[in-house]
Amino acid sequence: MATQDEMKRMAAEKAVEFVPENEYIGIGTGSTVNFFIEALAKSGKTIKGAVSTSKESSALMAKLGIPEITLGDLSGKLAVYIDGADEVNHMLQMIKGGGGALLNEKIVASASEKFVCIADETKYVSRLGKFPLPVEIIPHARSLVARKLLAFGGQPELRIGFTTFNGNAILDVRGINIDRPVTLEDQLNNIPGVVENGIFGHNAADVLVLGTQEGVKVIKPGQD
Ligand code: 5RP
Repeated sequence: MATQDEMKRMAAEKAVEFVPENEYIGIGTGSTVNFFIEALAKSGKTIKGAVSTSKESSALMAKLGIPEITLGDLSGKLAVYIDGADEVNHMLQMIKGGGGALLNEKIVASASEKFVCIADETKYVSRLGKFPLPVEIIPHARSLVARKLLAFGGQPELRIGFTTFNGNAILDVRGINIDRPVTLEDQLNNIPGVVENGIFGHNAADVLVLGTQEGVKVIKPGQD
């Protein structure tokens, strides 16, 4: 029986096939992405450069010789964005931000032609919302935003001792109904003090590369 890490690694290795040579790409954050960075470096594929979404990914990229660029260096879009997820549904909408990099991840995803999500089978769900939804907030608006989130039916909890890359705080929200991901994504981002939330409805993945007990599956939105 494959472990969760083995399934993450399988998906990450397969995802290298989705990287075109001599293009710019985006690289997400997390343990599955770390396997991807290792697999990309090992593959010997040549890319022009990659935009990273966190210090952790940048450090591993530098260690393994993957050239980093910033979004500001580019005039066009990135060819592909590779990232993990905390949950992904059958339309390939996701909850992300377990690692706290959701804002950078959404920016880089929106700057990419194609989003390839890499995950193990435990992340693939029929309904989003078991995983607490990360909401990045301006720190001094915490109580105000928390009250609004309670009115949405969620139970927000401050991620203690955590500051995002952009100097903000995160509220992890349990119990909020995410049956309409795109609508809720917009509603939450309309609350003053919310910087970004971890629903990736507007920026759903185009392809899911899923590591499972039966091997790797490549899934398109609504296909399975
Ligand atoms: C970080 C993320 C990650 O993609 C998500 O948390 C999955 O992480 P892992 O690959 O370690 O399971 O959204 O902000």
